Amino acid sequence: TAPVLTDGYGRVARDLRLSVTDVCNLRCRYCLPDERVAWLPRDERLDDDETVRLVTLLAALGVRTVRVTGGEPLARPGLARLVERLAAIEGIDELALTTNGVLLARHVAALADAGISRINVSLDSVDRERFDALTRRDLLPRVLEGIEAARRHPGIRQVKLNAVALRGVTEHEALDLVAFARAHDLQLRFIEVMPLDAAGNWKPTDVLTAEQLRAIIARRWPLEPLEREPSSTARLLRFADGGGEVGFIASVSEPFCADCDRLRLTADGQLRTCLFAHGETDLRGPLRAGADDAALARVVREAVAAKQWGHEIHRPGFRPPARSMSAIGG
Ligand code: GTP
Ligand code: 5AD
Ligand code: SF4
Repeated sequence: TAPVLTDGYGRVARDLRLSVTDVCNLRCRYCLPDERVAWLPRDERLDDDETVRLVTLLAALGVRTVRVTGGEPLARPGLARLVERLAAIEGIDELALTTNGVLLARHVAALADAGISRINVSLDSVDRERFDALTRRDLLPRVLEGIEAARRHPGIRQVKLNAVALRGVTEHEALDLVAFARAHDLQLRFIEVMPLDAAGNWKPTDVLTAEQLRAIIARRWPLEPLEREPSSTARLLRFADGGGEVGFIASVSEPFCADCDRLRLTADGQLRTCLFAHGETDLRGPLRAGADDAALARVVREAVAAKQWGHEIHRPGFRPPARSMSAIGG
């Protein structure tokens, strides 16, 4: 059989989003509650050997790029050692990282040496008090140091910023965020908030749409549209004055499921073919029970073949997935 993972809609999985831990050092309001969070027990988390085994298998089945996510990936001890091993896997040609940036200044050099070439940093506000209010941690200065360290590191060829857009908040934040991104020559993407919070409090009215934000930004800095890259989450626009690009990840108002090439592996070894899937496919169980590669490959192929078309956030009766973003992996 051909080394590709195809679903029932003809989409091919080539991009793995690998959650290396569910633990996070922030408590973003649209993601985690303020109370003590019940993290995964240690023995349920994949160790380095298990992770490398599964990624090797997925690479043999056609996965070409890996984005390391969390929780907060840098909260996993020894991440650079794991990345180094992932980089050595045949077939994997790109390793990227999505981080909240808090620990980035300390780790960027080791991660770049290990093989990370692109980093996306979450940044919802450049105002210290608002950052604190959104993330429930007063850590904006550390994040800004992290962004600067990543930007300066010659091994990191691209740094992007991700801002989750929240109605009532981001209208007031957007121009400052854009000004920051332009001043630092970074691509900024606004993300429509999705119903993936642990508390299940998301409401359609929380979403500040890409179109609404685009209008706010374009009044200050005129924008020209660009083609959306196939399989990309973001639609990019160019500043007419040559000040770079800004993007919109319109997961709610303009879903991009049609050409989704993504696959997710959670920190506890569950394969997820869609962010919004209700089911996960257990790979850790068979792996620990001694399954060989052929048996694991069969399980993976079947899971991908059954991938759902996409999310149904707009359908009456929509139910969010059982686990929140921090547990699924962004
Ligand atoms: P690039 O490779 O730099 O384009 O990164 P990315 O946008 O694929 O990944 P990133 O981790 O920066 O994610 C940005 C936002 O896109 C986050 O809110 C993700 O949850 C969201 N996202 C990523 N993949 C999917 C997906 O398959 N479906 C939906 N609805 N959202 C996704
Ligand atoms: N909706 C949209 N984006 C989210 N993120 C976390 N929770 C949500 C949500 N409910 C973002 C993070 C990070 C990326 C991986 O996902 O801010 O940038
Ligand atoms: Fe942590 Fe990311 Fe969730 Fe914020 S969105 S609490 S940074 S996992």
